[in-house]
Amino acid sequence: MFWKTSEPHGLPHNPFKSCVVPRPIGWISSISADGYINLAPYSFFNGVAGEPPLVMFSSTGSPPRASKDTVSNVEATGEFVCNMATWELRDRINASSAPAPSETNEFELADLEMAPSKLVKPPRVKIAPIHMECIYVDTMELPCDTPGGRNALVVGQVIGIHIHDTYMSDGMVDITKIRPLARMGYQDYTSVENVFTLNRPTK
Ligand SMILES: Cc1cc2nc3c(=O)[nH]c(=O)nc-3n(C[C@H](O)[C@H](O)[C@H](O)COP(=O)(O)O)c2cc1C
Repeated sequence: MFWKTSEPHGLPHNPFKSCVVPRPIGWISSISADGYINLAPYSFFNGVAGEPPLVMFSSTGSPPRASKDTVSNVEATGEFVCNMATWELRDRINASSAPAPSETNEFELADLEMAPSKLVKPPRVKIAPIHMECIYVDTMELPCDTPGGRNALVVGQVIGIHIHDTYMSDGMVDITKIRPLARMGYQDYTSVENVFTLNRPTK
């Protein structure tokens, strides 16, 4: 099939999100200017540079909350933490995505213990195997089809990384032990269970 994305696709669900898969999930903790703790998953998430390490996530919000809490908090306070989403934690990740009021602490909603961060104020998800402490760099305003909505792409610089020793083998991160969770189209997910190595050509 082919369709112009400005026109109807004629299918029960838009297949776009199945065409960019798998997407890692940034499970992002932040604190509002008023001190409310927040946690939510974002699958429009990725690492975008290595030196310095930079990450991005993007939020699609509709009125009356065009800016989701995570975006408002990060823009207001300049800090956030990306907690690694794993297969084991899938139900709690999902629970933390509930459209709760800004004052709701999703750590409590999803029955998750907090751990203090070292360099930023937002807490970490204690049980997550990896945490990246980040400072806000910039927001790029993206085109948005929803009237009054907001598509905001937020970039942050990773200033500190915690990796639980359980998931290190011979000085390397053991991804098969972690089983990172990733988003696909529709309500579908996958997890990373196989790793293979491919060396780059030298010339
Ligand atoms: C696995 C998963 C991935 C999600 N990815 C995104 C995303 O990339 N962008 C987005 O706007 N919402 C995404 N959502 C929905 C948000 O998590 C949800 O709107 C949440 O309530 C936002 O919380 P906040 O207002 O506290 O930031 C996702 C939900 C789930 C379960």
